[in-house]
Amino acid sequence: MSQTISLTEFANRLQQLAAQAQADNSADWSTKYLGKKGLFKQISADIRAVNDKKAAGQALNDLKSRLEAIAAQKNVATVTAPPTPALDFTLPAADTPVGHLHPVSQMIEQITDIFGRLGFIRVRHPELDDDENVFGRLNMAPGHPARDEWETFFVHHPGTPGHQHIRWVMTPHTSNGQVHEMLRLGKPPIRMINIARTYRRQQDVTHTQMFHQFEGLMVDKDVNITHLKGVLDYFAREFYGPDSRSRIRPFHFQFTEPSFEIDFSCHFCHGTGQTDNGDKCKFCKSGWHEVGGAGMVHPHVLQACGLDPTQYTGFAFGWGIERTYTLQDNIDVPDIRNFYNGNLEFLQQF
Ligand code: DAH
Repeated sequence: MSQTISLTEFANRLQQLAAQAQADNSADWSTKYLGKKGLFKQISADIRAVNDKKAAGQALNDLKSRLEAIAAQKNVATVTAPPTPALDFTLPAADTPVGHLHPVSQMIEQITDIFGRLGFIRVRHPELDDDENVFGRLNMAPGHPARDEWETFFVHHPGTPGHQHIRWVMTPHTSNGQVHEMLRLGKPPIRMINIARTYRRQQDVTHTQMFHQFEGLMVDKDVNITHLKGVLDYFAREFYGPDSRSRIRPFHFQFTEPSFEIDFSCHFCHGTGQTDNGDKCKFCKSGWHEVGGAGMVHPHVLQACGLDPTQYTGFAFGWGIERTYTLQDNIDVPDIRNFYNGNLEFLQQF
């Protein structure tokens, strides 16, 4: 156990310190006696060794007042305030963080702009629609198995007295925009781009239940597949860069005949499928990325939308917006759900 100090001894030490302070005229007086590690602080610690803490505390308070009086007499500042930096009013103000358009909105603007240069006008058609517009007029009669390809959400309205129960479709694709546009205009020429939210019962790292698609449609006299290919190549160059190309492969969709899947050349390996040292390109493996579907509008669809298929032909194409980002080499989309979970770190890369 440490040594005890009598109250008298303690008081004596305090007296000595006061006398020393009184006689001292050094420039750092304030720090030396009243500073954070000064002599008053040091001597205060000795109170632990005094039995009569109450009296010793009182003596310390007296010493503190005495030192402050001496400081006032010597005209020294007892508080060592940090130097105030000079204010420079000519400096620019601190930056305020500013947000930006959501990547999906940015992409919508970009897509609208690219197709706009080819005369495709952006339109907006319903995201909650009638079964007939989403499936029926697109050559998928009730009960047709092709309907199963779209994992569709339905909204049931119970109906009101005098009105029957209604089953709305939450559009699983933007192809219903084709139907609306043909019915709206009644006759070609038609060149539209319908961009809307779409819904499907899927959720994992590459799918969200709500996502965006865009749908292109061109109908006129003598429209053929070469026009479709030209439009897709134009998009590839404008969107992915001057050496990007598109490729169409035979496929099946119920509302187009013939139908195709659309690929764009991989911009990592420039469509070769290989890295410079002959390894397989890790990003695409084959030189191409599949992005969406396309085809010549099926005669049944033209007819169901009031157009004469013996006079007019057309092409259509469509694919997802979020997915398009996953094919850009400067953007990292490890989980597509990041578009919608408010993850700023992810969103700030756009
Ligand atoms: N609607 C199709 C889908 O959601 C994509 C599509 C395929 C759109 C062919 C088209 C088309 O316009 O012609 O997968």
